[in-house]
Amino acid sequence: MIEILNISKTFNPGTINEVPALRNINCIVDDASFVVLLGTNGSGKSTLLGAVAGNFYPDKGSIILDGVDVTRLPEHKRAKYIGRVFQNPFSGTAPDMSIAENLSLAAKRGLNRNLGRALPKKLIEDFRARVKPLNMGLEDRLDSPIGRLSGGQRQALTLLMASWRKPNLLLLDEHTAALDPKTATKVIQLTEEIVGKSGLTTMMVTHSMQQAVKMGDRILLLHKGRIVYDFKGQEKKRLKSNDLLALFDEIRKKEQIDPAAAEMFSNFYI
Ligand SMILES: Nc1ncnc2c1ncn2[C@@H]1O[C@H](COP(=O)(O)OP(=O)(O)OP(=O)(O)O)[C@@H](O)[C@H]1O
Ligand SMILES: [Mg+2]
Repeated sequence: MIEILNISKTFNPGTINEVPALRNINCIVDDASFVVLLGTNGSGKSTLLGAVAGNFYPDKGSIILDGVDVTRLPEHKRAKYIGRVFQNPFSGTAPDMSIAENLSLAAKRGLNRNLGRALPKKLIEDFRARVKPLNMGLEDRLDSPIGRLSGGQRQALTLLMASWRKPNLLLLDEHTAALDPKTATKVIQLTEEIVGKSGLTTMMVTHSMQQAVKMGDRILLLHKGRIVYDFKGQEKKRLKSNDLLALFDEIRKKEQIDPAAAEMFSNFYI
């Protein structure tokens, strides 16, 4: 369970570049819940994931992960509890290292013992078994540098690595946005399989309304650093892409009519 309590973050405070990116975000994500984060560009989705992952400390509020207050825990110390996949397929893996070496990093994440560079045969067998279901033929290429793989292959491996040791929380930030539609569909299927099988608590950012309605059990819609809609249970199940598009339209119209009023109004959403 992740408890995000009254989190605020303003970038460049007191300057002309001041951006209140998160404003009093409150949200408790239950164990094994899969939350989809939606919102227009700049609404604070990535910043929220960044706050949870520890990229920066929030100005105020607390973040409690499975009962442990991690608000001031440095990012690298949080990493063993949190798996993360970004939009860019090149950001989650070391390109000059082989698939097996990258996987060994994931396998020993959070463990104290050093597996060393020579990989035990048993581990290689384990890698093969875990990579095979991706159906990308990567089990026969464990010695290839990861830099030679396509974006989709890399992203599938990054996802596998991020979820390898069943993290307390999985954060996905538009992890299929840079992939062609067919590959994106495959990585989405893989996401559903991995999250479903391990019951991982997950927060996923997307701009895809289809993904939002099809995946997960909850939708948070962010706007200007606030959660303006929170759909769960039956309400989430009933939502259609068109309902979500209508909400985006509604937000846009409010802004066009009177941006200042919309700003004030946004204080009263939920
Ligand atoms: N490190 C930073 N320094 C200054 N401003 C930042 C920083 N990170 C984010 N911001 C600003 O905070 C606001 C929220 O950005 P964020 O990246 O969270 O949006 P987002 O919802 O993820 O958007 P997108 O859909 O485009 O990815 C934006 O106005 C952005 O410019
Ligand atoms: Mg973003």
